[in-house]
Amino acid sequence: MYNEDHIQESVRNDMKTRGSFITFEGIDGSGKSTQLSGIANYLEKQGKEVLKLREPGGTSIGEQIRAILLSRGNMAMSIETELMLFAAARAQLVREVIEPALANGVWVLCDRFMDSTTAYQGYGRQIDLQLIGRLNAIAVGRCKPDLTLLFDLSVEAASTRLAARSDKSDRLDLESKAFAERTRNGYHELAKAEPNRFRVIDAERSVEDIEQQIENILREGTGI
Ligand code: TMP
Repeated sequence: MYNEDHIQESVRNDMKTRGSFITFEGIDGSGKSTQLSGIANYLEKQGKEVLKLREPGGTSIGEQIRAILLSRGNMAMSIETELMLFAAARAQLVREVIEPALANGVWVLCDRFMDSTTAYQGYGRQIDLQLIGRLNAIAVGRCKPDLTLLFDLSVEAASTRLAARSDKSDRLDLESKAFAERTRNGYHELAKAEPNRFRVIDAERSVEDIEQQIENILREGTGI
């Protein structure tokens, strides 16, 4: 069953350096998705294999859950249901896509991850933070990001940007300004609690400036 080629291939896989896992976080309208694409191009130019993902989503099951979560037909959704759907989509993405990719040396860039649940459902919706911590732990296991880029900007600036975008009118975009303020504050708390993992980016600066700043962060952290 295990011929010479098979053994050689397993040895090669074992020797592969694990990829890096970078997450992009921030309130809606913070510009994180634009930056994710720019940074993916930069890393590919450095010869890295890169996988771009978004949450909720990234798997067939996750995209179905995303449709339920964002549908304006689901205004009756309870906050507990919402919490568990985000966690369910994440659990699937970690096992089906992120873990295998990292093990294969791929760099995984994810638009939102576990910190979104703490910031939005924990601080925004005010669900118990310890409960969210436990749920996040079940969803991600040991698969925590190596680096989290937090795109920080005022709620006013973010809503001005969102108003100019026609694609932003799903169920979760109908939340109040107070909700967005609590969520932003939640991100600040997370960044303070884990300063080694988080880098806070001033998202009011130009796209080019921010891209340069992120490239510097990557060079400092990984030498690429
Ligand atoms: P997106 O607009 O960045 O694609 O994110 C979809 C929405 O889902 C956004 O309003 C943030 C929200 N969200 C949560 O509330 N909790 C979560 O855990 C995640 C991943 C997203």
